[in-house]
Amino acid sequence: MKSKLEWEETFKALTDPILLLDRHHNIIRCNNRLDDLPGKNYGDPQKSKCYRYVWGHENKCENCKLDEVYENQAPAYHRVQLESGKTYDVYYYPVFNVNQEIYSVIQHIKDVTEQIKIEAQLMQSGKLAAIGEMAAGVAHELNSPMTVIIGNSQMIMRDGGIDQNNADLLEDIVNCGLRCKKIIQNLLTFSRQDQRPMSRTSLNKVVERVLSLIQYQINRNNVDIELDLDPKLPDVLANEHQLDQVLINLLLNARDALENNPGEKKIFISTGLRRAEEGASVVATVTDNGEGILPENIMKIFNPFFTSKEATRGTGLGLSVSLGIAEAHGGTIEVVSKPGRGSSFTLAIPVDCPEN
Ligand SMILES: Nc1ncnc2c1ncn2[C@@H]1O[C@H](COP(=O)(O)OP(=O)(O)OP(=O)(O)O)[C@@H](O)[C@H]1O
Ligand SMILES: [Mg+2]
Repeated sequence: MKSKLEWEETFKALTDPILLLDRHHNIIRCNNRLDDLPGKNYGDPQKSKCYRYVWGHENKCENCKLDEVYENQAPAYHRVQLESGKTYDVYYYPVFNVNQEIYSVIQHIKDVTEQIKIEAQLMQSGKLAAIGEMAAGVAHELNSPMTVIIGNSQMIMRDGGIDQNNADLLEDIVNCGLRCKKIIQNLLTFSRQDQRPMSRTSLNKVVERVLSLIQYQINRNNVDIELDLDPKLPDVLANEHQLDQVLINLLLNARDALENNPGEKKIFISTGLRRAEEGASVVATVTDNGEGILPENIMKIFNPFFTSKEATRGTGLGLSVSLGIAEAHGGTIEVVSKPGRGSSFTLAIPVDCPEN
């Protein structure tokens, strides 16, 4: 009596649905874990067929293995996919009496919906990692021949003595070569695990250094740059060369957005400390009063190769590379934009360095 009770308790303790079935699909017994299954409203399980009580069907389920188990006297398994998106693995185990005849079948149902989702995600990220590695390899291999193509073409151009037609063709070669080089460079940054260690970095210094590099390029387009750097900004642990790159990308995008602005062209750069529940971050914001971004494009701008610029101008990798860098630092890039009014991009890097 005690052992019967123990078995019943064991049966109930299992968190997956378990049923004992006879050969005619009648439920002999089941535990109380069937609530999430689609056929739960069909009354007393012990007077019910499994297909009705468990799955809500009027007839035997399409892939049912019960007959097969009785025939083959061996366990069986099949997967059930419901329209609701749920997936179940169903296992059948024959139970034998002393004469080695099957007198019932244990059915064990396991909800594997989440597990399948995670497996798919893992596979996807594995695939992405493999593609990333391959892209880095290809980019690396292409870098040297591309340098030769551009260099040699430039040398022929410089030497002169060729007719205008050929000079135009050469110029095309150089321009396309430079574009390829830019894509290669971006792919390398994107996939390279930059080996340089993170160090204490001031975002203000990043802004100042980047401006010293490209201010001339931007001012050439009659753009007015205004700065508001927080003097009390704490340092963050970061790879400063990568942060330089993010800032350069944001500034060049702002410059491009201002190109057709007939009025006063302005870029405003600010830094500051932002306190939030999840912790403090240092932020650098680049705001322009350029063309802005259409709402239907705002979700796409971080996608690799999304660009609204002509082929010779943009590769569409700048923001995806920048977001990759921000995320590698535990941070983000946020964007606010109004078409015709301008855009504001904010790089936020968490201050989690213990010394800060
Ligand atoms: N400040 C901005 N104002 C308006 N549109 C922007 C701005 N920054 C980015 N965009 C839009 O997002 C797109 C993607 O930007 P991203 O920097 O990734 O690529 P790109 O600038 O086109 O090319 P690349 O940076 O590789 O030369 C741009 O083509 C542009 O349409
Ligand atoms: Mg860009």
